[in-house]
Amino acid sequence: MISADELRKKYLDFFVSKGHIQIPSASLIPENDPSVLFTTAGMHPLVPYLLGEPHPAGKRLVNVQKCVRTGDIDEVGDATHLTFFEMLGNWSLGDYFKDDSIAWSFEFLTSADWLAIPVNKLAVSVFAGDDDAPFDEESMKKWMELGILESRIAKLGKDDNWWPAGGKHPGPQGPDTEIFYWTGTEVAPESFDPKNKFWVEIWNNVFMQFLKGKDGSPKSLDQKNVDTGMGLERTLAVLNDVATVFETDLFISIISAIESATGAKYGSDAAVTRSMRIIADHVRSAVMMIADGVAPSNKDQGYILRRLIRRAICESTKLVKEGIDLTKIAHPVIAMFEGVYPIPTAGNVIKAIKDEQEKFSKTLHKGLGQFEKFFKQGAIGGKEAFDLYATYGFPLELTEDLVKERGATIDREAFEHEFAHHQELSSQGSEKKFKGGLADASEETTRLHTATHLLHQALRMVLGDGVAQKGSNITTERLRFDFSHGEKMTPEQITEVERIVNEQIEKAMPVICETMSVEEAEKSGAIGLFKEKYKTVGDQVKVYNVGNSSTSSEPPFSREICGGPHASNTKELGHFKILKEEASSAGIRRIKAILE
Ligand code: SER
Repeated sequence: MISADELRKKYLDFFVSKGHIQIPSASLIPENDPSVLFTTAGMHPLVPYLLGEPHPAGKRLVNVQKCVRTGDIDEVGDATHLTFFEMLGNWSLGDYFKDDSIAWSFEFLTSADWLAIPVNKLAVSVFAGDDDAPFDEESMKKWMELGILESRIAKLGKDDNWWPAGGKHPGPQGPDTEIFYWTGTEVAPESFDPKNKFWVEIWNNVFMQFLKGKDGSPKSLDQKNVDTGMGLERTLAVLNDVATVFETDLFISIISAIESATGAKYGSDAAVTRSMRIIADHVRSAVMMIADGVAPSNKDQGYILRRLIRRAICESTKLVKEGIDLTKIAHPVIAMFEGVYPIPTAGNVIKAIKDEQEKFSKTLHKGLGQFEKFFKQGAIGGKEAFDLYATYGFPLELTEDLVKERGATIDREAFEHEFAHHQELSSQGSEKKFKGGLADASEETTRLHTATHLLHQALRMVLGDGVAQKGSNITTERLRFDFSHGEKMTPEQITEVERIVNEQIEKAMPVICETMSVEEAEKSGAIGLFKEKYKTVGDQVKVYNVGNSSTSSEPPFSREICGGPHASNTKELGHFKILKEEASSAGIRRIKAILE
């Protein structure tokens, strides 16, 4: 048996013995790359250095990098997929290249002093070449020189032997050579068939020698780099000859905590096993995300975290009706990683999970009941999904998972589209969203909502009555407002709109809510999404007035049909500022604005 700690240590020691400096793992949250939510590969945090910036630790580096990939989240529960994983990597920043990289990988894997894997259990693949880049002959030669049979070397295209895979991505890149380990019980076949599932990829050596711009073919980089990545979990599983990563010491204590919490037994039944794997994976990811500063929320990393925690809770209800306390699973995860990565405040990690759990558990069972009801009634569409989200805190993807689990399918695009549509309507009108506890009716969103009304009216004053709302979306940070208008606003118009809104704020205008019929609202001059939203004649609607109510002889500054909630006086708003005015689609402009 080799433990995770031993494998990490061996890897680091080996490359230190080859002149590498050990550097710590970067955070899971990319520091300077807003294009991705998480660090998904060891190369991510090192991109500036791959492009030529000198690294303070030198040209040969070795590390273990925490990574999160959520692209395959639906596959988690099978034998191999994980959202959080660790990548062992050695790096040459314009120092050694293919020869040393391949020789050292071979030595580390096969030498009796290191992993002592019999050569007969290994196979490799190299880049076959295409119109853009040549066949990687050097790697092929090197492997053969080291004793890998030609029949054990597969030549494959960019989808397999290029990193980032496919070669379409801009940025530093190049051909790679991948190393496979034979996991079958029979003797490994003479020739390597990459489709045979007993050959498991354990290591990927990328030769970053090209840079690709947004379009165009890759150009040679001045600095030739090596980026290798060995997946810790998978390598550990094959070295220990266990069937899945969940049977390695990285998971044993976590699975056993899940067994204690549920009374169920891992391996007793396929569905139980699957649920336990999902819970184990998701709690690992959640702990590591929180440790790196993510808090559950409705956007970006926070949304992914929320989704993982809520999905783990839902999954646990399949094992015990009332679900389990995830903090019991988080403890062994923290204990396992504490010595490996900094977990600054274990107490906060537990608290964050606990708080999120409490928020969700209030509505979980009702939500599941409502889901079943919808499901029995027929299809679950975007409207139902939105209802589950707004009222019970079910992230969209959770509902999607529940549908899939019942063997039904979902037209993802239509589903998301419809969901988004309901969300837009809701941030304009419905109170439902704010009842849910998921989209907290925080003061911030309330204030931004009122600011949206002021903005709408100010736009009509500056640009004319042709301005009509086409969409609205509010987060705790900003408002986004889409409206019909044929051309780009001038800087003067933007300043004028800001001035008008701020003037209303400074005047400390009351915000008065009235209830009336749609017809009355229309007659009183209220603006809003009448036709689209309130089809039934006679519907009672809420009208929000900034300034005077409909009983006054003076007109209000703004009168809009809307579900609320709103600030009670504009003085609560602070200072309004437009950050951006841009095209949204043909004839529709989009403004992003904040209150500071
Ligand atoms: N960037 C490559 C990978 O992630 C090698 O580290 O597989």
